[in-house]
Amino acid sequence: MAEKNKRDGFGSKIGIIAAAAGSAVGLGNIYRFPCVAGENGGGAFLIVYLVIVLTLGIPMMIGEFILGRRAQKNPVGTFKALAPSAKGWSLIGYMGVLCAFLIIAFYSTVAGWTIESVYKSVINYYHGKDLATIEQGFNDSINMTVRPLLWQAVFIFISAFVIAKGISKGIEKYSKILMPILIIILLILCVKSILLPGAYEGLKFFFKPDFSKISRQVITSALGQVFFSMSLGMGALITYGSYISKKDNLVTTSLMVGLSDTFVAILAGVIIFPAAFSFGIRPEAGPSLAFNTLPMLFNQMNGGYFFCLIFFILLVIAAWTSALSLLEVIVSYLTEELNLSRKKATIYSSVGAFIISILAAMSLHDGSSLTIFGFTIFDSLDKITSMVFMTLGGLFTVLFLGWKIKKQDFEDEFTNSGTVNIRLKKIFYYIIKFIAPAAIAVIMASQFLM
Ligand code: TRP
Repeated sequence: MAEKNKRDGFGSKIGIIAAAAGSAVGLGNIYRFPCVAGENGGGAFLIVYLVIVLTLGIPMMIGEFILGRRAQKNPVGTFKALAPSAKGWSLIGYMGVLCAFLIIAFYSTVAGWTIESVYKSVINYYHGKDLATIEQGFNDSINMTVRPLLWQAVFIFISAFVIAKGISKGIEKYSKILMPILIIILLILCVKSILLPGAYEGLKFFFKPDFSKISRQVITSALGQVFFSMSLGMGALITYGSYISKKDNLVTTSLMVGLSDTFVAILAGVIIFPAAFSFGIRPEAGPSLAFNTLPMLFNQMNGGYFFCLIFFILLVIAAWTSALSLLEVIVSYLTEELNLSRKKATIYSSVGAFIISILAAMSLHDGSSLTIFGFTIFDSLDKITSMVFMTLGGLFTVLFLGWKIKKQDFEDEFTNSGTVNIRLKKIFYYIIKFIAPAAIAVIMASQFLM
């Protein structure tokens, strides 16, 4: 191709799928999904979640890729470039950059617990311990002053390191091999968990929908979880879209990424709920679901030491590839719109996020007064980003796609200039223009009418 492009890009098709799946698959699937599903009735939540992934999540992923690839820019620049006469839309981009900061802040705290779990696996801490001791140990670790902060600093530092090196050499290289290994371990764990005594109750909880439990809260939480898990609504996929080659098919890419993300979340549910029921952990137990159930499960396995260690290492890596996409949103904005060097931009954004993350971690200490409206800062960051920023960002992103950009821009990107997907185009356009904005608006409004 004659076209010379100064922007860094993904080197191959599998590279972009791996990197986008790396962004999507993370703590959101293995830690947050079971938490939210557990609090919202299990099976009822799962059904709503799946419906939202298929009807909104995947179309919105395609939509974000379209915007980024068309504009070849960061989220702020994208809105400016595609609607030059309506500058106000770039606010969505700014909101995305802010949102990225806030997500990294609490995400790195959870990533820190994951590193703590790696540490505990290395020293064989879990071996032979009962549930109460492991739970107590988890609480004690969260309540420590320095150690959680050290782990989250390590996490942010390793993410910043890859980001500073740039896209194709950094992100792609690390994502490609590791995700498949994680999936294999998850599959082994599934089998192990289903064979535990009492596992059936857990499977029933996760798969048997009690339709009477579908409430506004279940729907809102599912929408927030879809956005979080698929990295939607705050520019991460606009940014990645800007690195996708013009030849890649955005529809199949999004389908593969969206479905693998959902597959991993379901695997996590199939591992965690049967095991939790078997060990006597309540489904509403929150972080305990992933961080205490799994070590208990490993304790029951031959080679448990080894599996536990590898699993938590891979989980750190999954979290890491997700954090990369978050940092990249901020860094691409700072380098392209404010002309900072990549190195400076990385330092500012990671240090900034680390400072907020200190507050998030400290707010979880027993008796901490770091609260907002009665929620810890950690919980507030989690809730505000997924239930407000990302859903609002997603709403305006689809409105922008459906009503603001030139129809030609939309068509060219969707069909790779008329070479693919002609048949799907109408349905997709209809979803983006009417169904998606209406659905998101209704779900958001219902939140405030409770
Ligand atoms: N999707 C990731 C996960 O499930 C987290 C994440 C990465 C994210 N980038 C994002 C969430 C952008 C929202 C927006 O763990």
